[in-house]
Amino acid sequence: MPNKTVTTLIHMKQQGEKIAVLTAYDASFASLQEDAGVDVMLVGDSLGMVIQGQESTLPVAVDDIVYHTRCVARGRREALLVADMPFMSYSSAGQALETAGRLMKEGGAQMVKLEGGATQLETVSQLTAHGIPVCAHLGLLPQSVHQLGGYRVQGRDDESARMMKEDALALEGAGAQMLVLECVPAALAESISKALSIPVIGIGAGVGCDGQVLVVYDMLGITPGKQPSFLKNFLTENDTVAEAFDAFVREVKAAEFPNAEQSFR
Ligand code: KIV
Repeated sequence: MPNKTVTTLIHMKQQGEKIAVLTAYDASFASLQEDAGVDVMLVGDSLGMVIQGQESTLPVAVDDIVYHTRCVARGRREALLVADMPFMSYSSAGQALETAGRLMKEGGAQMVKLEGGATQLETVSQLTAHGIPVCAHLGLLPQSVHQLGGYRVQGRDDESARMMKEDALALEGAGAQMLVLECVPAALAESISKALSIPVIGIGAGVGCDGQVLVVYDMLGITPGKQPSFLKNFLTENDTVAEAFDAFVREVKAAEFPNAEQSFR
């Protein structure tokens, strides 16, 4: 099978085939995710919390993402490899180009992800102009947790919902080729997914998105502490990690995950 590219994902959206995305941080998990048919692997800055044991994603360094992207690249065969731009590594378009260049050249990333809306338009268009595919990220922005006052559902009132949709359209206009929506009411996420021609991948954003992403340690029930209500532990009904990945891909593709209880209103 050929490599999955942004064109493959847009085609999947057009065909109504749901896109299965998991975070990955090492070659062994990447290889198992490939076997299960995961379409996109995201080296998320969530690694700061689930691997490094930090309280937030803020301390993650570009070197950390480069290292883990390189590890995942060795286990990946066909999935699109996306790497997160860490906090304060894209505070200007110039700095973003430097960071994205490292993630692609040293890490082997095929797309970079950054958080934010209107403030990121110039950066997104600069990256795109230099041939760097960009995944945008709206809704709950973990890198802005101190500004948001905690990990909360975003876009619940009319004004913030309107702004989120406007930001999503503007990011697509600036050249973003994929969008992650995190902790967003299901109806809003569905309407944004329908309004955009690029794939919209939800986490806590309901089944109406074009695909779903979960943090791999969360969906295996490894992450300590209280888990968000949108989460499903796929290892409870399966005996092995490989079977848990198979079940995740199957349930995403069948639009069985997330269900109404795993979504926000
Ligand atoms: O860092 C991460 O793992 C992410 C996902 C939660 C989408 O951004």
